[in-house]
Amino acid sequence: MATVALSSIAKSFGSTKVLGGVDLDIADGEFLTLVGPSGCGKSTLIRIIAGLEHQDGGGVAIGGSRVDHLRPHERRVAMVFQSYALYPHMSVRANIALPLTMSRLSLRQRLPLLRLLSRRRREVMRGIEADVGAVAMQLQLDHLLDRKPAQLSGGQRQRVALGRAMVRQPAVFLMDEPLSNLDAKLRVHMRTELAELHKRLGATFIYVTHDQVEAMTMSDRVAMMDSGSILQLGTPSRLYEKPASLKVAQFIGSPAINLLPATVAAAGRLELFGRPMALAVPLAQGQAVTLGIRSEALALVHGEPGAPGRAWFTARLRRKENLGSEYILHFDLAGRDAQGVTMRTTPAIAAGLSEAAEVTLGFDEAACHIFGTDGGRVEPRGENGATGSVVPLRA
Ligand SMILES: Nc1ncnc2c1ncn2[C@@H]1O[C@H](COP(=O)(O)OP(=O)(O)OP(=O)(O)O)[C@@H](O)[C@H]1O
Ligand SMILES: [Mg+2]
Repeated sequence: MATVALSSIAKSFGSTKVLGGVDLDIADGEFLTLVGPSGCGKSTLIRIIAGLEHQDGGGVAIGGSRVDHLRPHERRVAMVFQSYALYPHMSVRANIALPLTMSRLSLRQRLPLLRLLSRRRREVMRGIEADVGAVAMQLQLDHLLDRKPAQLSGGQRQRVALGRAMVRQPAVFLMDEPLSNLDAKLRVHMRTELAELHKRLGATFIYVTHDQVEAMTMSDRVAMMDSGSILQLGTPSRLYEKPASLKVAQFIGSPAINLLPATVAAAGRLELFGRPMALAVPLAQGQAVTLGIRSEALALVHGEPGAPGRAWFTARLRRKENLGSEYILHFDLAGRDAQGVTMRTTPAIAAGLSEAAEVTLGFDEAACHIFGTDGGRVEPRGENGATGSVVPLRA
C-alpha cells in the first residue's frame, strides 16, 4: 500500500496552461476524489500520476519514492478508464489476465507455436489462472469468464475493467470517471460496490468524477478543482458545510445552493432586500455580498417574520418536485425575474401549499454562507470585532 504525494505539478498543452502547480498529499489507503467542472484538469492530473502523461514541472512520489522516471507499469498503479478499454476479441478471462501474461511471460512464451512447447509457460499460466480466478470470485465474475465483452452488461464490463486493475495488486488505483457510462441505477449500485471494494482491498484510491454525488458518497476526502488548481481539499462534509468559495458552494450539493444578493450597510451589518440582518461582516459599507443558503436551511414562516437571528423574504411557489420521501419546492422571488430558490421539505408540508401560493421563507442567519465579490468566503464578525460568530439582533 502507498501514499501519493504531488508537489507543484504543472502542465501545459502548447500555450494552454492546464495545471498550475498542484500540491496534494494522499494518505495510504485513502479514497480521494478529484472533482470539478469539465476541462478543469482532473484527467490530466490522474494521467500524470499514472505516468501516461508527463508533467512540465513538479514531482510525483508513490510510497515515499519519486516515480517521475518510471514508466506506467513500473509505478505500482493501475488505471480504470471510463471506456473500460477491454479487448473485444478476448474473453473476460484473457482480459483480466492480460497484465499478468504481459508481466510474467517472456515474449517468446507468448508466441503462438513456441508457447505450446514450454513447460515453464504452463506453470506460469496455472499461477495466472489462480490469480484471475480469485479476482473474478471477489467481483462475482466467475461465471462469466468465458464470455466476450460484447456479451456483458455495462456493469459487468466495468467489473472486468476493475478486475484487470486488481489482478496486479497495485498499491494505488486510479479511476477516471469509471461509472459514467452506466445508467443511473447501476451507477448508484456500483458506488456502493466500489466503496466496499476499497475497504476490502485497503489500497489507495484516487477517483476522478464531475459528479458531486459520487464524490460526496464514496470519498474520505474530496479535492475540488477548477481551472487547473485545487480550490478546496477536505472531507465531503467540510466542503458541504464550510465551502471556501462561491464556486465550491455552487458545485457541491444538490439541489444547488440558493444564492441571494445582499449588501453591507453601516457597521458591517448585512441587509437582505433592504431589511437589516443580525449578521455583520468585516467589509466596507456599500459592498455587495452573496448569501448562500442550502435548500434544507429554508423554512416556511407562519405569522410574524423577523424573529431574532432569522432573515426572511417573500416568494411564490412555482413547482413542486416529488422525490417520494421528500419534496423540492421551487419558488420565484417576488419582483425578481429569473431568480428562484429551492426548499427541501416533507411531503406533509408540500401538501399544504398550492401552486402559485405566496409565502414567506425564513432561514437561520447562522446557517448561511457569505461570499465577497471575489467569490471568497467571508466569516461574520463577532460583537467585539472577532470573526466567527453572529451579532445578535437587538430589539
Ligand atoms: N492531449 C491534449 N492536447 C491538448 N489539450 C489537451 C490535451 N489533453 C487535455 N487537454 C486540455 O486540457 C484541459 C484539461 O483537460 P482534462 O481532460 O484534464 O479535463 P477534465 O477535468 O478531465 O475534464 P472532463 O470532466 O471533461 O473529463 C482541457 O482544456 C483540454 O482540452
Ligand atoms: Mg476527464
